Amino acid sequence: MMLWVGTSWKMNGTRAFARDYARALAGLDVASLGDIQPFIIPSFTAIDVAASELEGTRILVGAQNAAWEDAGAWTGEVSIPQAIDAGATLIEMGHSERREYFGETDETVNLKIKAALRHGAIPLVCFGEPAEVFEAGETLPFITAQINAALDGIADTSRVLLAYEPIWAIGEHGRPPRREDLVRTFAALAERYGDRVEAILYGGSVNHDNNKDILGIPGVGGLFIGRSAWTAEGYIRNLELAAEAVRE
Ligand code: PGA
Repeated sequence: MMLWVGTSWKMNGTRAFARDYARALAGLDVASLGDIQPFIIPSFTAIDVAASELEGTRILVGAQNAAWEDAGAWTGEVSIPQAIDAGATLIEMGHSERREYFGETDETVNLKIKAALRHGAIPLVCFGEPAEVFEAGETLPFITAQINAALDGIADTSRVLLAYEPIWAIGEHGRPPRREDLVRTFAALAERYGDRVEAILYGGSVNHDNNKDILGIPGVGGLFIGRSAWTAEGYIRNLELAAEAVRE
């Protein structure tokens, strides 16, 4: 089974940063990683730089968001064809930061999945519950409602990547998950969606200490990493750990 291990840099990094980072990755012997599919998701401004450095490797480059319409009067938006033109093959959507600050909803995620698939891009669909939902033991109904709404009316979701990103675990105020926080959730996600999608990733305070343990949880099909992959060295270490997890 292929494990997807990637990072979003969020709103970080100049084009020079992207060039150096991607160059460090391009020098990596990806074949030695085995069944790992690496991907990086820079800001829009750096997609082309990263993609040209990584041309000819099997490391994918993505966009952190994109519009569901192809073109037109949508000031400030970037369309999926434009993101693809810059070098993206993967489109992230539904991240909790976009939901909280920029009005992303399950409905817009649904439109964006359809648009990505129409253009042959891979949708990376993030979902996850806030702390109070987790503490109330309501995680599963909350996230299955998000996923069902996002996938609504899409007959073939086999190219979709799902990423479970509990809000309580994300970012500098997040708490790294314990194994027992994720086991039941991933068992249920795998049972309900495992056959319908490409893979189900975990994201939120992944670091070098918990990387392999999380990958060892049944149903986890990869990692979506923020801070611990914001340097090339940090990301490469995560890739190496994931490769070890596959071998063990
Ligand atoms: P983090 O970010 O790894 O820095 O917690 C994860 C995410 O938001 O995807």
